[in-house]
Amino acid sequence: MNAPKLDCSSLSAAAVSVLECADADDKSALAQQLAEAWCDGAISIVGLAPAPDRPARPARPALLAPREMPKRGKAGSPTGRIALLHALAHIELNAVDLACDIIARFSALDLPRHYYDDWVKVVSEEGLHFSLLAKRLRELNSFYGDFPGHDGLWEAAQETAHDLLARLAIVPLVLEARGLDVTPTMINNLRKAGDIPSTEILERIYNDEIGHVAIGHRWFLHICDERDVAPEATWQGLVKKHFKGALKPPFNDEARQLAGVPLSYYTPEPE
Ligand SMILES: [Fe+2]
Ligand SMILES: [Fe+2]
Repeated sequence: MNAPKLDCSSLSAAAVSVLECADADDKSALAQQLAEAWCDGAISIVGLAPAPDRPARPARPALLAPREMPKRGKAGSPTGRIALLHALAHIELNAVDLACDIIARFSALDLPRHYYDDWVKVVSEEGLHFSLLAKRLRELNSFYGDFPGHDGLWEAAQETAHDLLARLAIVPLVLEARGLDVTPTMINNLRKAGDIPSTEILERIYNDEIGHVAIGHRWFLHICDERDVAPEATWQGLVKKHFKGALKPPFNDEARQLAGVPLSYYTPEPE
């Protein structure tokens, strides 16, 4: 089968090419091509291209509601480790689509070029994260699609598809920030299990994800400023409205502060 082609007529059209690509390896390859084409000027305009309601996905993994997901085995056991790497690969593939969606869906807004530079960087890094994890799964005699995946991330995208400020409040500043809270424990468990290659991949992802939360916060502040609303109270209101479930401590204050997110956002003084 021919590899799918990137539509280079505009950045939005290229982002839609990635969203509409079903094969996971091709999707992450297109994500890299998008970043190269934007950085070297082969794509020069943002343009307008409507984002699909849902991205195309491979036939496997089957997508389940988060509550239907089977329990992963113990973190240190080989099967538990493979299930963890699979779950992370699934998150990264979703993250490629989420970064493309935040480019295409809101392209009618008058956003500065720096906004697109930032999200193209995220597209490229999420594509790399997926490909590193997919390769690691193959080294462990598994593959992406070997386990079910959950659809929670795309549900968050649909819940915030109407408003960029809501999208920024939930995807980078709740979901990706949650990744910063839980990744150090995963890294420790992988190291204890002696799986150094997986440890190194997660360390790379962790550092990049601090940058993604920082980018999310930067543009959250930008839109708050445009709308003349107070960031902290606005974020808390949007989380209450659009995020099902509670924010789960313990929080990784150090990583969140490196990303520039103030402690007071998520640990407000009791009323
Ligand atoms: Fe990532
Ligand atoms: Fe990310």
